[in-house]
Amino acid sequence: MNEKSPFPADFLWGTATSAYQVEGSPLADGAGASIWHRFSHTPGRTHNGDTGDVACDHYHRFAEDIALMRDLGLSAYRFSISWSRVLPAGQGTVNPKGLAFYDRLIDTLLANGLQPMVTLYHWDLPADLDDRGGWRERDAASWFADYAGLAFRAFDDRVNLWTTLNEPWVVADGGYVHGTLAPGHRDLAEAALVSHNLLRAHATAVQAYRAEGKHEIGIVLNLEPKHPASDAPADVAAARRADAYMNRYYLEPLVLGTYPPELAEIFGAAWPRFPGADFSLIRQPIDFLGVNYYTRGVTRHDATAIPTRASSVRQPGSTYTETGWEVYPAGLTETLLRVREYCGDLPLYVTENGAAFPDPEHPANGTVDDPLRVAYYRAHVGAALEALRRGVNLRGYFAWSLLDNYEWSHGYSKRFGLVHVDFETLRRTPKASARALIPSGSPP
Ligand code: BGC
Repeated sequence: MNEKSPFPADFLWGTATSAYQVEGSPLADGAGASIWHRFSHTPGRTHNGDTGDVACDHYHRFAEDIALMRDLGLSAYRFSISWSRVLPAGQGTVNPKGLAFYDRLIDTLLANGLQPMVTLYHWDLPADLDDRGGWRERDAASWFADYAGLAFRAFDDRVNLWTTLNEPWVVADGGYVHGTLAPGHRDLAEAALVSHNLLRAHATAVQAYRAEGKHEIGIVLNLEPKHPASDAPADVAAARRADAYMNRYYLEPLVLGTYPPELAEIFGAAWPRFPGADFSLIRQPIDFLGVNYYTRGVTRHDATAIPTRASSVRQPGSTYTETGWEVYPAGLTETLLRVREYCGDLPLYVTENGAAFPDPEHPANGTVDDPLRVAYYRAHVGAALEALRRGVNLRGYFAWSLLDNYEWSHGYSKRFGLVHVDFETLRRTPKASARALIPSGSPP
């Protein structure tokens, strides 16, 4: 890192990916199917019928990808373990070839000076566990802790940073409210149980880590400010509900041991009574929090919007990404400062931040010119620096994503990579943004 960088010398600069989005070969070498394998192979579920069967072929090309990260000057890599690769049925028999893949990945990272940050769950539940009720079952917490224990025993000698779940809100909202993500259900009562069991699973895995691990463990939440679209009381109330549903739903039980009262109103008859003892479990001390930040929501009352009766309105004059998200860098500073109010000095990482823009289809002169993404990163890295200057204990920043990859139900139609992937040849080409990510010299 350039000596004049305004960031601390030990600040981690990384990129993030997830197993199903980049690895490919989902059933190779004895792996079991995940809910994403099943969902993407169900006609009509994904754009163009796209699946993660090949994705970026990171399963075979990880060494090339790690060399790229090293050459870009990165110091960390956040990736997820595919649960069904290491435990094909989710429980029971271990697949040694699955563990061996992550062994090779971790060893190659370390040999190239990159620190691994491991996500245990990035949305790809083993399909066999889904057949047994998946996250709707209270038993899911112990299934997850058993899997986590296996990963800790295999890799904690080389992995210093662990996270339990990636974005529990998306798992519940996409997978069980709107059905746009696996397993594709639409049932509010299920969603309430799923979120609760995810939080219990997180906490049970943290307990397992205290018994088996020696380093640090946290969780990754996707957070975004919800600003009222007007001063009208209905819009102010809508923004409060949207905030309770997306942000405080997870922050408050983790930190305070309670759910925000708005949730009972939002879920109505679908809101269950939860055993009181669950909340002391969920409020388990963690070592750091990962924050995924993409946008804000300017929110208005909307009686048709499920479940919050709140929806976002577009801001004339703002830039929007290809996924329809407003580019709003100040929201990253705001989010980090807000987390500080809840968590005090707990170390924080920006575990994802990035944008899909319509890049040129093909590289030219050995690169891809992506000025909108360059501007996006400059502004958001600046916003992270502002939070650091205002006292946030921010330890690192991970761009989403290293590679153009499988964007879930959008298939390959949305490109988030710092590195362009030609999905015919799988050739990698760093975009201009890859070289612009890490600031050097004067502050961005
Ligand atoms: C997820 C990623 C996803 C990204 C962009 C995050 O919510 O963790 O898996 O690709 O957003 O949509």
